[in-house]
Amino acid sequence: MAASRALVLAVVVAAGCAVGLSGATDHIVGANRGWNPNINYSSWSANQTFYVGDLISFRYQKGTHNVFAVNETGYDKCTMDGITGNWTSGKDFIPLPHPGTYFFICGNGFCQAGMKVAITVRIFDLGPEIYPPPAPGADDPSSSSSSSAAGAWPAAAAAVTALGAAAILVL
Ligand SMILES: *[C@@H]1O[C@H](CO)[C@@H](O)[C@H](O)[C@H]1NC(C)=O
Ligand SMILES: *[C@@H]1O[C@H](CO)[C@@H](O)[C@H](O)[C@H]1NC(C)=O
Ligand SMILES: *[C@@H]1O[C@H](CO)[C@@H](O)[C@H](O)[C@H]1NC(C)=O
Ligand SMILES: *[C@@H]1O[C@H](CO)[C@@H](O)[C@H](O)[C@H]1NC(C)=O
Repeated sequence: MAASRALVLAVVVAAGCAVGLSGATDHIVGANRGWNPNINYSSWSANQTFYVGDLISFRYQKGTHNVFAVNETGYDKCTMDGITGNWTSGKDFIPLPHPGTYFFICGNGFCQAGMKVAITVRIFDLGPEIYPPPAPGADDPSSSSSSSAAGAWPAAAAAVTALGAAAILVL
């Protein structure tokens, strides 16, 4: 019994490393149309599968557009509600360190023209018996991080490490 648990643990760790080191996908928002007005990003998002450890990247003309991570209220109303980060480089790679729903908008007035995208990030598929779903709200960026500022992202990465440790303890 102990030996089989050790084997499962080794598989989980190996799978986690594979995802973390080589399996990460960079999801380019809007694909070759980039981050621009009058594109239906709900359609784009619906066609992607986001896993913990992936990146989302925004390509746009620097100075014209930008990216703000907000909460669902900010997404719905095109406001800065629940802001947790902002990016302005024109080619922004944003890590997705934990499961949950992330909301991004353009902060330069173009949100109303469709520059908003909501994505749901899943923990990788090793099966519910190995990775139970996270406790409700425990790792939801829209609730737990909404009060902190742009510096929340590294903290989120630490949270994912803690989640991994918790999953191993469950074994
Ligand atoms: C975007 O496309 C989705 C279907 O993928 C549709 O339900 C939605 O109404 C569209 N939004 C706009 C603003 O056209
Ligand atoms: C969804 O993905 C498929 C395969 O990559 C692609 O052919 C299709 O155009 C995509 N649809 C949208 C709405 O992006
Ligand atoms: C988003 O953040 C704002 C400001 O902190 C807060 O009033 C609002 O309730 C939040 N919305 C959600 C859906 O968490
Ligand atoms: C954008 O992020 C920077 C740090 O990267 C921060 O100093 C600034 O206050 C943020 N702006 C907003 C509107 O949150």
